Amino acid sequence: MVEFSIDGKKVSGEKGEYILDVAKRNGIHIPTLCAHPAVEPKGMCRFCTVEVKDRGRSKLVTACNFPIKEGIEVDTNSEKVRQGRRVILELLLTRCPDSPLLNSLAKEYGAKSKYACLYPDNCIRCGLCARVCATHVVSALCMADRSHEFHITTPFNELSSVCVGCGACFMVCPTGYVKLEDKEGKRKIIFGNQIVAEHRLVLCEQCGSVVTTEKNIEFSRKKLGEDTLLVYPNLCSKCRRSNVAREAEDLAEDAVFEFNIDW
Ligand code: SF4
Ligand code: SF4
Ligand code: FES
Repeated sequence: MVEFSIDGKKVSGEKGEYILDVAKRNGIHIPTLCAHPAVEPKGMCRFCTVEVKDRGRSKLVTACNFPIKEGIEVDTNSEKVRQGRRVILELLLTRCPDSPLLNSLAKEYGAKSKYACLYPDNCIRCGLCARVCATHVVSALCMADRSHEFHITTPFNELSSVCVGCGACFMVCPTGYVKLEDKEGKRKIIFGNQIVAEHRLVLCEQCGSVVTTEKNIEFSRKKLGEDTLLVYPNLCSKCRRSNVAREAEDLAEDAVFEFNIDW
């Protein structure tokens, strides 16, 4: 076990764990933008900055990917930390002036957008969408170009042939840059102004709401086995749950009925 302190509180964790993991377990909040429990951290946004004092020396590190160490003192909210997060926010806001999340964080930290950006959009280039896709789905996304043109896209900026339309990238994106549009039986995955994939939707046979895409069902069957989704494959999760519950109730009623007769 590795023992150390966070904000003066004695904590411990397994060797190899990161500061953020131990902080979460102990109910200590460290703000993050690009960390997600479903993927390995990459330290891209820098917003989880904390101050670490180690043998008399102090430095700012990213909590999401800094391994814990015996005896270190972590401060999650020192003036140095708040100043660091303020600068990071000012830089991110320059690129993403319209992000509701960044604007509310800017208010909290007293950050103002000070710099000019020729091509502002709403993406902080954290790569979380691509990491989630690559780890759990199909690697449909990549980072392209360099310097100020560095951006998230699909190979050759073309409509993706491998995307299954699961929407995981949309769900994890911290800024709202990824959009998912379900309309007229089709799902579009949109990054900024670029449509990266289009899919045919499967609608719930019972209530007509969206289940998922045809390609996602096919993908899940291949990945999780043919038996997956065989029970009510074309029902949304709500209708599926209520059908299963109804069946369970019927079974229970039958059992009681049989039990009474036998008795
Ligand atoms: S919707 Fe497409 S790009 Fe997004 S995570 Fe799913 S497979 Fe990847
Ligand atoms: S689209 Fe969202 S998740 Fe992907 S790099 Fe941009 S901000 Fe990060
Ligand atoms: S959350 Fe740690 S660098 Fe983004």
